[in-house]
Amino acid sequence: MSSDTGEFVGAYGSGGLACSAEAARAADEHDELASARQLFTLPDTIYLDGNSLGALPVAVGPAVTDLMDRQWGQQLITSWNVNDWWRLPGRVGDRIGRLIGAAAGQVMCGDSTSVQLFQALVAACRMRPGRGTILTDADGFPTDQYLADAVAELLELKVVRLHPGELAAHLSDDVAVVSLSQVDYRTGELFDAAAITEAVHAAGALMVWDLCHSAGALPVELDAIQADFAVGCSYKYLNGGPGAPGYIYIAARHLDAAVLPLPHQQVIDGDLVVGVVRTLLAHVHPHRRAEQIGRVELVGKRLARGEVAGSSPVRPGVLALADRLQVEAVGFDGGHRLQLERRITGIDARRRRVVDMGQGDQA
Ligand SMILES: Cc1ncc(COP(=O)(O)O)c(C=O)c1O
Repeated sequence: MSSDTGEFVGAYGSGGLACSAEAARAADEHDELASARQLFTLPDTIYLDGNSLGALPVAVGPAVTDLMDRQWGQQLITSWNVNDWWRLPGRVGDRIGRLIGAAAGQVMCGDSTSVQLFQALVAACRMRPGRGTILTDADGFPTDQYLADAVAELLELKVVRLHPGELAAHLSDDVAVVSLSQVDYRTGELFDAAAITEAVHAAGALMVWDLCHSAGALPVELDAIQADFAVGCSYKYLNGGPGAPGYIYIAARHLDAAVLPLPHQQVIDGDLVVGVVRTLLAHVHPHRRAEQIGRVELVGKRLARGEVAGSSPVRPGVLALADRLQVEAVGFDGGHRLQLERRITGIDARRRRVVDMGQGDQA
């Protein structure tokens, strides 16, 4: 988004769109988060697509080199034990858990968001037998909608699509599960996860949150809001890199009752226990948790690190920057802007074609 003259320019509109590089640098000088820039390897550009693919953290290169050269190259198969590869899904899961307000033991990192959403939806629906409806956002991410349809077909349920704001009118004793993204991926609108979860529980249903566009971008408090299930990816605001794995959160109180449709491996007291044995162990082992469906993806998990952006102090700075860009660069007036606290990092580009793609073209 930078032009030859060094100006930061929004492509839309006629007047007052410039936000000079000088002004931006001055703002940076007073920004307590300015030093975070050094944690990432970035070309000399303003990058606004972290909601799709997060930037490369500088720590990743050495970690991947170590994985390749020492762990795989030298230590070979012993690495499953000496480098604790077996437990990586849970270890990375616990680190992600710190970003999403989940106490240890409830998050597993692995597989894709889509696979994890399928797992969560089936498990949650099965926990509400006799109820026939899944509610989901009509404008939600397409994959999430396809998965709701697929799960409904599999379990002979129906899907009702709505706007999250209309939820109250649709909640009934026939609703098994409500599946929503915490953030509207098109607009950045942030939904009230606590209030929605409470309303869903009041109707006797279970809540599945998609955190792809919130984890790492703002504080998320899954335990505090009593969320049931959640899923997310690690290649956006967790800076895990292309193809980095997703994750699933299952609230501790559901770990025994939730039966995931795809069998997981378990590591219990150092032994690998596969598949169906887990149901037997449920009765004897109190610390059961979801683990990986198949082999652990090691490179992806090495990359899945991003504790910077999600921590609370980042949120005000991120909002201020988003607001500044929305107003100064994109040029929307107050009437078009979502309330600051109801957005994440995104700029609302719904109504106008606004983005300068670097060539001056509108997109
Ligand atoms: C909100 C949301 N949900 C689900 C997905 C699907 O993730 P994946 O394709 O990694 O399974 C995405 C991907 O961008 C997403 O943005």
